[in-house]
Amino acid sequence: MKFIVKSATFGKQKDALAVIFVSIDGTASVTNKALDQLISAVFKLGDFNGLAGQTLNISCPESLNCDRLLMIGLGKRNAQEQVTEVQYLKAIQSLATSCKVSSAKDACIYLNNTNIDTRDYSWQTQQLVEKVLYSQYRFDQLKSSKSKPVSIKKISVVCTRAQQKQAMTGLKIGNAIGSGSSLCRDLGNFPGNVCTPTYLAKEAKRLARGNKQLSCKILEEKDMKTLGMGSLLSVSAGSDEPAKLIQLEYKGAAKSQQPIVLVGKGITFDTGGISLKPGGGMDEMKFDMCGAASVLGTMQTLIELALPLNVVAIVAASENMPNGNATKPGDVVTSMSGKTIEILNTDAEGRLVLCDALTYVERFKPAAVIDVATLTGACVIALGKHATGMYSNSDALAAELLDAGTISGDKAWRMPLWDEYQQQLKSNFADIANIGGREAGSITAACFLARFADKYDWAHLDIAGTAWLSGGQKGSTGRPVSLLVQYLMNKV
Ligand code: BES
Ligand code: MN
Ligand code: ZN
Repeated sequence: MKFIVKSATFGKQKDALAVIFVSIDGTASVTNKALDQLISAVFKLGDFNGLAGQTLNISCPESLNCDRLLMIGLGKRNAQEQVTEVQYLKAIQSLATSCKVSSAKDACIYLNNTNIDTRDYSWQTQQLVEKVLYSQYRFDQLKSSKSKPVSIKKISVVCTRAQQKQAMTGLKIGNAIGSGSSLCRDLGNFPGNVCTPTYLAKEAKRLARGNKQLSCKILEEKDMKTLGMGSLLSVSAGSDEPAKLIQLEYKGAAKSQQPIVLVGKGITFDTGGISLKPGGGMDEMKFDMCGAASVLGTMQTLIELALPLNVVAIVAASENMPNGNATKPGDVVTSMSGKTIEILNTDAEGRLVLCDALTYVERFKPAAVIDVATLTGACVIALGKHATGMYSNSDALAAELLDAGTISGDKAWRMPLWDEYQQQLKSNFADIANIGGREAGSITAACFLARFADKYDWAHLDIAGTAWLSGGQKGSTGRPVSLLVQYLMNKV
């Protein structure tokens, strides 16, 4: 799928598929007499009335120079002729769905005066490209018969000359997020027997190959042992697959600029370990490396955009399995920080791999550290699948992440890290217990991590509810790549 930006007049050239936006007062995103007549005719028929997200497909419209016309409803315009962001997003979501099934080879999207109250033209184009690419994503690498490829090969985004520069910027960002999100989704969707810690390490090396700004280093179990990562290694102890600590360093700015560090939970399959999970739905625990996948996806986008920043990505990759060497409930281990941990439940393994990664990243003297993890079922209960749970020890960083979530549409919601919750992690046998009881499970997990992240500004994203969908649409969502990329772009 290729996108281009151009200026053109509707009706001047023959389009295989012309897409126009129409608001409820009947005004279209282009001015054309014959089109206006057609719009009033369909409004009269009542088949289409311009509600946000509504679509109407017309084949071979007489008097218009196109094979197919797709009308997309924009909803109501305000006194300044503008529509809201939400209306626009509804419209382009429908557009993306229609583009997926159209039999046209190319499409022309007339985006001329879709005027959004709060966002610029770059954002509009970016969202459009992102949504179209997102809806065209397929995962059929493991199927013998592949699904029919999407017919549309080229999409022209038509705008005025004055809008072109912004449109080009948005197009570039949208494309880059498209490839980062798609990498993230692929990694998430591959099953545990393909996507192992070793596989994630190979993918990281592949990203760095041929890119001078990006370097990759893999720490093996023996290296982690030397570093004293007793907590991380207690998780991989029960598995035949070796754990990997993956490190990607992107240098886009001066050496003196402190890096932003992203840390991903990379449990490539979470059985729960000796605290074995129940069987139903356990297949979905192949998605327990979606934090890692989103961090790698973000790096993919970052190198495509070549942002002038220093960014380090760390992936703590392991399986959580219950073999004869597995960690047992009640075992006490020593983390890299020196703190001892009583492992009361081996299914609370995400925090055990992350805490050592959080200590490890102190060496980078980070400007900020953000960890991303499918950490708790409790977060899914609290926020469902719409918002990522966000925790931070810095109000400024929290505000930046919330803002990035709002702009990108990849939303996060801040949760409390109050000291009161810390007492739930008391242990009679070690410095800290790895679980905090039934109450506030997502918060106590974050509180656990906070104890290892006190040397820098830190945020934790619990993506247990947002990283994948269940049921008929089962699959990785690519979240929170858009949020992270937006956060990084805002840093430039
Ligand atoms: N990977 C899971 C969290 C999870 C569960 C994400 C279901 C999405 C859906 C994590 O490792 C886990 O098992 N957490 C436990 C923690 C508990 C033992 C304190 C949980 O949430 O039940
Ligand atoms: Mn678990
Ligand atoms: Zn897990």
